[in-house]
Order: sequence, then C-alpha cells, then structure tokens
Amino acid sequence: MNYTTEELKAKIIDLKKRLDVTVVSHFYQRDEVFEMGDITGDSLELAKKTMEDDSAFVVFCGVAFMGESVKVLNPEKRVVMPKQACCSMARMIDTLYYDESVRAMETAGIAKENILPITYINSNADVKAKVGEMGGMVCTSSNAKMIIEAALKENKKILFIPDRCLGQNIANMMGLKSAVIGIDENIADADIICYDGFCSVHQLFSIDDINFYRKKFPGIKIAVHPECDPALCDKADFVGSTSQLIKYIQELPEEQKVAVGTEFNLVNRLRQKNTYVLSSTKPECPTMNETTLEDLYLTLKSIEESAPINEVTIDANTQKWAKIALERMMAL
Ligand code: 13P
Ligand code: SF4
Repeated sequence: MNYTTEELKAKIIDLKKRLDVTVVSHFYQRDEVFEMGDITGDSLELAKKTMEDDSAFVVFCGVAFMGESVKVLNPEKRVVMPKQACCSMARMIDTLYYDESVRAMETAGIAKENILPITYINSNADVKAKVGEMGGMVCTSSNAKMIIEAALKENKKILFIPDRCLGQNIANMMGLKSAVIGIDENIADADIICYDGFCSVHQLFSIDDINFYRKKFPGIKIAVHPECDPALCDKADFVGSTSQLIKYIQELPEEQKVAVGTEFNLVNRLRQKNTYVLSSTKPECPTMNETTLEDLYLTLKSIEESAPINEVTIDANTQKWAKIALERMMAL
C-alpha cells in the first residue's frame, strides 16, 4: 500500500465518520494510531469507557487481553482488533500453569477453599475465567491496592497472577508479606502468593539508570510503573499506574526534572522539557507497537465491506466466568 501517513489518517477519519464504529487506543500505541482513538486511556479507563459506548463495533488498538476484556464485558458488541498481539506477560500464564499454581499452594498446606485468586487484567480470558470460577476477581495497576484490600477482608491467602512485581510492590506498600511460587520457600507464610510472571519492558529499567539520573541531575524525581522490579520501585519517588504517572508528571512544577520508567510511546508523548525516559535503551512494548496505521485502515475497510477481520470471539463458558471476575472488579 502506497499511502502516506497523512493520506491514511484522512481515509481513517472518513471511514470513522461513515461507519458505526468507535476506535479505542491504549496510551502505549504508536503516536499516529493513538491520535486516531475516539477513546484513549489506560486499561481500566478503556474497559469502563467502552461499557458506556453504544457503537456497533469497537475497533481496539492495544494488546489481545484488552480487546478480549471489552468483548467479555459487552458480549453484544462486535470487537475487532487491527492486530491481536499477545502481551508477553499475559502469555506467561495459561490455564495449566494456573492449576499448577493452585496445586503448589495446596502442597504448601493451604486448602483450596482458603485461596482467593486475583488476576492482573494482563491475562487471557480463559485464565480470568478460572479465577472467576474460584471466586476471585481481576485488578488493574490503577486499582490493585484497593482490590487486594477488599480481598484480604475474606481472610484467605491471595494467589496473585501473573505479575510477581505488581503483587510484591502492592504487598510492600501495604506492609504485607509476599512470596513467589517456585522461588521462595515457605510460601504459606505469605499473605500474597505471586506467580512468577513479569513484563519484559518494565524489566528494562535498572537501579544503575536511577543512579545515573540522580547523579546527573541532583534533585530529579524518579517515577515508575508498579510492573518494575520491587528493588527499583523502592528507590523511586513515585510508583503508579499509567494514568497515575501522567497525573503525577503533569502536576509537577514546570522546572522539576523527572525520569520516568514506563513504556516509551507514553513517556515520549508526555515529554516536556524536563521529562526523561529512565533507560539507556528504548523501552518500547513490542506487542503494543505491532498495530500500525495501515492495520487500522484495513480493519475499518473490512467493516465497510461487511467482512470484519480479526474479530474477537469467546466461548460461552469462558465468557460467563471471565465476566464474573471482571464485574467483581467493576463493582468495587
Ligand atoms: P495500565 O493498566 O496502566 O494501562 O497498564 C497496562 C500495561 O500493560 C502496562 O504495561
Ligand atoms: Fe504487556 Fe509489558 Fe507490553 Fe504492558 S508493556 S502490554 S505488560 S508486555
């Protein structure tokens, strides 16, 4: 296809006007794709806002679990994704590994009925369904602390999947004990028992990066996402989800320097004079970056031709239990 970026944008805008569609873009999307979003935000905002939207089609520019969550919450909607790219963290756990994690807790002496599973939204729908079936719920990085606080009231051991860093960071924030299955001994002593998954992008930030920036710019603030390693978060001035990071940075005085440890596209878009990317490499999320303007155009065109491509479909049982897990989060 030989269209320029500007030509593609014009075609997309024209198709959006003519079709009954809403384009949804996560903050980590490429700039030109993000710009085409009618709804933009972090994973929690996108889940909430699409529930209030009444177009027939949601065209979701993000990673697969996000499009799946929209479909699970709105089964009547047709959800299509210009690219169904799977987040590398979500790919780290499937239903078999989930069952194994429950068994590891049972082996450590915790009865199944005393386990309350919580899955980060970065997991596939079949894993969310397993969690829903066991009485558990979903959380995002924006509400993880609140969800865990509510879950603890049930006096059960929390199985937190798939991101060990988010689980450990929340435990540290709340003064609770955490352990990682397969790594730590005596997991039964912990309040939050984490699966050993992680985000490959947020592992790119190091304490050396923090030391470098603190030495170069005395007084600089360090702000990081809770998917970063707990040892790194411990040395930061602020730890927050995507939207919390944006708010924190926007509220700093203009002359305050800040180095930010999260996905490149977001930080680059935010980049004001005194905002730096906390890494010597480019921390781009490869799967978020898979969606191009051309993919978006072709997807809209396929809707116009009544042959939508990459439509999200979910089987009835998964739909039922994953919805319960997501709705428990929404209710809180
Ligand atoms: P948010 O929940 O902050 O949107 O993050 C999603 C994600 O994939 C972070 O890496
Ligand atoms: Fe997944 Fe990490 Fe990319 Fe977020 S940044 S979508 S957790 S791989």
